[in-house]
Amino acid sequence: MKMLFIGDVVGGIGRRTLEALLPGLRDAHKPDFVVVNGENSAGGLGITEKIAREWLDGGVADAITLGNHAFKHRDVYRFLDNDERIVRPANYPKGNPGRGYTVVEGDAGRLGVVNLSGTVFLDAARSPFSEVDAILADLRDSTDWVLVDFHAEATSEKVAMGWHLDGRVSAVLGTHTHVPTADARVLPGGTAFISDVGMTGSRAGVIGVRREQAVEAFRTQMPVKFDTADEDVWVNAVVVAVSDDGLADSIDQVLVAAG
Ligand SMILES: [Fe+2]
Ligand SMILES: [Fe+2]
Repeated sequence: MKMLFIGDVVGGIGRRTLEALLPGLRDAHKPDFVVVNGENSAGGLGITEKIAREWLDGGVADAITLGNHAFKHRDVYRFLDNDERIVRPANYPKGNPGRGYTVVEGDAGRLGVVNLSGTVFLDAARSPFSEVDAILADLRDSTDWVLVDFHAEATSEKVAMGWHLDGRVSAVLGTHTHVPTADARVLPGGTAFISDVGMTGSRAGVIGVRREQAVEAFRTQMPVKFDTADEDVWVNAVVVAVSDDGLADSIDQVLVAAG
């Protein structure tokens, strides 16, 4: 079984680039499942029901993961509650909209998808380490493979999560920093790991924001309106191949420029 995981899609330019390049990526890699991180898909922050429906019902994604911007747009709250193909971080307060893990079924079998938030430089209600232990106990009999999107800032926390889950899930894929890291590998126990997949958005900006605005904010320390950068757009993703035992055979980075 192969799965294609797409790093944080940033804004309309990220969505259009993903939709343009995905058919070629499907041809090249033949994924059984496509999972997309959509936490920046609506104007750079959050996701809307319209975008989520287009991806899930339009053959773009089998499942969507989110992150710290999951609740930016209120219009998606009911969709998060009602649609089982989209997840927000599991270690957020239990009363929040949506769910933190799910199982999507395809011709190839049952894929568990877990979304977790880090706690270093990010807020979450509970430790992602104990949270994922409880989730895996719940998923044990209902999945063939498990993909964990660990949405976290610090590489230390992400690497630690990789070791915590090595041999227990198919893949631990880091998101949130929007910068792809060079450490993709299958850990000794059989879990595919990368600290950060990167983003699907403009490399000409500062993690998706127009560079002159981001630089001005750092330089002046004054409020600055941010717009989504739209030049030099790339899809950042990984392809993970897994065996029937639920563990990974390989993880390969996919870093493709548009146009
Ligand atoms: Fe993001
Ligand atoms: Fe994020």
